[in-house]
Amino acid sequence: MNKEGRYERLHKQISELIPKGDHSISAMATISSILYHKMEYFFWCGFYFLDKGDLKVGPYQGPVACQILEKDKGVCWAGINKNESILVPDVHNFPGHIACDGRSQSEVVIPVRNVEGNIIAVLDVDSDKKDVFDETDVVWLEKIISLIEPIHL
Ligand code: SME
Repeated sequence: MNKEGRYERLHKQISELIPKGDHSISAMATISSILYHKMEYFFWCGFYFLDKGDLKVGPYQGPVACQILEKDKGVCWAGINKNESILVPDVHNFPGHIACDGRSQSEVVIPVRNVEGNIIAVLDVDSDKKDVFDETDVVWLEKIISLIEPIHL
């Protein structure tokens, strides 16, 4: 199955699985697990939360991650500071990239917003292969993230 078709199927599966209402953490844990296990080029998949100015790791799947990301450094903070999704085909060409695991080669970051539209977290996906993410990943990951019910944080 091609990438588009696979995302379409996973989007349906996630929308049927995640509970409705204020269960954002459950939804994030489920999204991490499904994406990590079903997308074979995903090497790490999870969330980082903004908490009192820090970016702290949330639900994730994959190798052990950095617990706190140094402020305004790396891809996750770039997504927050630019207020948009970030696609990095080769992390070695991204100044300040934070390598929690040296095997990561490419990365996508998608903002997660609360009801006011402010970023409260990011979805971060890493691959151990270069150039595997493209606009299809960004579009579908944004759609999957929009399944999380906005929360007040
Ligand atoms: N590479 C990220 C850090 C998080 S890990 O990839 C899990 C960054 O540069 O923000």
